Amino acid sequence: MMMMMMMKVMMMVTVMVSEGSIIEQTCKETPDFNLCVSLLNSDPRGSSADTSGLALILIDKIKVLTTKTLNEINGLYKKRPELKRALDECSRRYKTILNADVPEAIEAISKGVPKFGEDGVIDAGVEASVCEGGFKGRSPLTSLTKSMQKISNVTRAIVRMLL
Ligand SMILES: *[C@@H]1O[C@H](CO)[C@@H](O)[C@H](O)[C@H]1NC(C)=O
Repeated sequence: MMMMMMMKVMMMVTVMVSEGSIIEQTCKETPDFNLCVSLLNSDPRGSSADTSGLALILIDKIKVLTTKTLNEINGLYKKRPELKRALDECSRRYKTILNADVPEAIEAISKGVPKFGEDGVIDAGVEASVCEGGFKGRSPLTSLTKSMQKISNVTRAIVRMLL
């Protein structure tokens, strides 16, 4: 009896290891496996989250990156006053992500209407691209822009699994 139970447990453990975690399974379906896994593993909620939970964690990462980028923009006003126009535009764009896209996506996914969540997540990447374009090829924000585009793409792929 004891022996049978132990064998069953061992078999279950083997299956879990060979299939990989839910995070890895899910991230395989996104355009950036490594980024996806590292973002989700860095959140304590990740290991027990379902697909919408994983999407919500990534939206939180979008929010954190948005705040970081807004801080960077604020610092650039002093260091690069000649870029004021482009910085103003970026500031507006990132505030749209923070005040519209992120809350819209969180609400939609929490309420089980992921289609509207997808719109907000896509828009975060679009806003970042528009900001970047304003510098006419001399952007001081390029690496932050790329990060936002990548997180947006990964998050979008996971939100689409909910549709
Ligand atoms: C994000 O996805 C779009 C559309 O599939 C693609 O054109 C773009 O290159 C991707 N961006 C990044 C940074 O992965």
